[in-house]
Amino acid sequence: MSAAETVRAIRIREPGGPEVLEMTDIQLPPPAPGELRVRVITSGVNRADLLQRRGSYPPPPGFPEEIPGLEYAGLVEQVGPGCSIRRSGDRVMGVVAGGGYAEAINVRERETIRAPDGVDLEHAGAIPEVFVTAWDALFRQARLTAGESVLIHAVGSGVGTAAVQLALAVGARPVGTSRSPEKVERARELGLVLGVVGPDQWARSVMELTGDHGADVILDLVGAAYLEGNLEAMARGCRWIVVGVPGGAVGEIDLRRLMSRRVTLRGTVLRTRSPEEKVILARAFQDHVVPLFERGEIQPVVDTILPAEQAAVAHRRLEANDSFGKLLLRW
Ligand SMILES: NC(=O)c1ccc[n+]([C@@H]2O[C@H](COP(=O)([O-])OP(=O)(O)OC[C@H]3O[C@@H](n4cnc5c(N)ncnc54)[C@H](OP(=O)(O)O)[C@@H]3O)[C@@H](O)[C@H]2O)c1
Repeated sequence: MSAAETVRAIRIREPGGPEVLEMTDIQLPPPAPGELRVRVITSGVNRADLLQRRGSYPPPPGFPEEIPGLEYAGLVEQVGPGCSIRRSGDRVMGVVAGGGYAEAINVRERETIRAPDGVDLEHAGAIPEVFVTAWDALFRQARLTAGESVLIHAVGSGVGTAAVQLALAVGARPVGTSRSPEKVERARELGLVLGVVGPDQWARSVMELTGDHGADVILDLVGAAYLEGNLEAMARGCRWIVVGVPGGAVGEIDLRRLMSRRVTLRGTVLRTRSPEEKVILARAFQDHVVPLFERGEIQPVVDTILPAEQAAVAHRRLEANDSFGKLLLRW
């Protein structure tokens, strides 16, 4: 059995601000049965990483507390015993439950996703977490279909920019909110039908645009701050799916309003799913969404690519809500 390899990674020295992120060396064991060693080209930065850095979002058991990172794109470097899908040199990407801020990681082979042909590996790092989240929430859970209106909050976010493109790809009508006029404008360039600058009055605009029909699906990336507006803007039979709560997690709902419009309210999370669920999701994403990238129907939206040493800069930018699309760390 080969020895552990020393690789560079970004470590959380102690819970705190962006300054606690530092480059370190870690020992990476050889890939276990069913695992691949991936040489990472870029690691995506996510809001969950900010929470983990502050000590308030520990990873599931088996993943390191001190190394954040939920996604990667890179090249297969070593194939562990029992692997049968990937070969050394394959271009892959994927979602992991932690440890993604490293120049090499061991990942479960069956959770890897083929990186789309025509998308360079640097930019492919902007795909897994936000496109898998948006696709799973919109189509597998909320059952969005052609001709329906989908309301996407924080439309300039990583998940939001993915959702706009995915909605358009099936012939749905994406409308969205942001607190920034500039982000709304940029989302329009992606095809957003209506962009409303929140936090006030957006519900009325959504109703006007949809001829008083309302949103058939709400992709809620804000939470409590927009709860009342969502109750006003939901169509009959609306599927409202809560994905993120930067605008607060606690609110009050008059349940009769859900009843009278026969609304389904559900929440979702990727990180804590079982390995079996993650395999099914990765395979389905590869089959249904990777071809859309290859045909040029959708594309990763990259805000900035920074050297991995500048992870703290990336965290500050994300924390300030300055980014449009994804922030990436390059190894
Ligand atoms: N459930 C899951 O498995 C899962 C997976 C991935 C992401 N998420 C969550 O989904 C959300 C989007 O993720 P992301 O990576 O795409 O985020 P992101 O790129 O960091 O963008 C988040 C955006 O949310 C908006 N925002 C922040 N605080 C807000 C507030 N108080 N009120 C209204 N808007 C606010 C800001 O947009 P404006 O400046 O335009 O207002 C900000 O740019 C995050 O909450 C994230 O934690 C969940």
